[in-house]
Amino acid sequence: MVNDDAYNSSDHLTLEITGDGSATFYSEEFGEHFHCRNGAYTDAQRNYVDAANIPELARAERLAILDVCYGLGYNTAAALDTIQRVNPDCQVSIRALEINAAVPRNAVANNLIHHWTPATQVILKTLAIDHCYQSPTLDIQLLIGDARQTLQPLATQGWQADAILFDPFSPTRCPQLWTVEFFALTAQCLADCGILATYSCAAAVRSAMAMTGLNLGSLPGVGRHWPCTIATKDKRPLPPLSQQEQEHLKTRAAIPYRDRTLNATAEAIVAHRQQEQQQCTLEPTGVWRRRWLKGVGSGASTSSA
Ligand SMILES: C[S@@+](CC[C@H](N)C(=O)[O-])C[C@H]1O[C@@H](n2cnc3c(N)ncnc32)[C@H](O)[C@@H]1O
Repeated sequence: MVNDDAYNSSDHLTLEITGDGSATFYSEEFGEHFHCRNGAYTDAQRNYVDAANIPELARAERLAILDVCYGLGYNTAAALDTIQRVNPDCQVSIRALEINAAVPRNAVANNLIHHWTPATQVILKTLAIDHCYQSPTLDIQLLIGDARQTLQPLATQGWQADAILFDPFSPTRCPQLWTVEFFALTAQCLADCGILATYSCAAAVRSAMAMTGLNLGSLPGVGRHWPCTIATKDKRPLPPLSQQEQEHLKTRAAIPYRDRTLNATAEAIVAHRQQEQQQCTLEPTGVWRRRWLKGVGSGASTSSA
């Protein structure tokens, strides 16, 4: 268990070392690890920062990043280290959303952040306590609360991200952050030439993104069994979805999660989707899965979640 006497929340966090030697937490509340178990740092760098093209974007004079589900802060940390390496003069603005302030606090208290550069460690420590960090080149705010609410003022102000690192727990565990409505809100905060990166390739996630008008691309997930997803508002060419992935979007798995008021419970969101799935005439996902297991797409792999 983590070392923090002040932490009395019921969602206990268990510490675990991942494949690349970096540590992550397991959340008993969500029944899931915070990162891919093959490597937490690698996950942040490859499946978020590199996938969102931050090494290239950081060459610009300014860069704005939205970190959806800050957690231990690894995605923000990987972005900061990368920007520092590529262009230390870049004017960086980061807005990070996290519901549980104890998570970043515990990451710092348990010294899980020691692989990042000393400058980035100072920033993560400050964020864990003060929830903001300012310097001549950095303007970072950690907004504590339900992302469905904390994102709304940013959208209203017209705040625009060049890169969105979208990292909630999986859709079955945290459906409230994978709904059409939350993606619509998130897309409002994505610049026209911006890019969103997420680890999920679930059909319900991709169809929700497509319904908000985002253009989808597929990337091999580093250390993951399934592809990751990138999305843009503009129609630039992105690595295309395979035939198997495209057919997945025509099955019942592609019925998206809905949350019209942006405050429904996870249970209500899941129950509503199940009802829609039962009533729809789309191909059952099991038929799609068996078709691809039989050989048309042998070698290809996609989660049917
Ligand atoms: C998969 S972890 C994120 C890992 C993180 N990106 C990192 O690098 O450590 C998901 C995070 O989402 C947070 N979370 C869960 N529900 C949320 C909500 N409704 N709004 C904001 N954050 C939420 C959890 O507390 C957890 O820290």
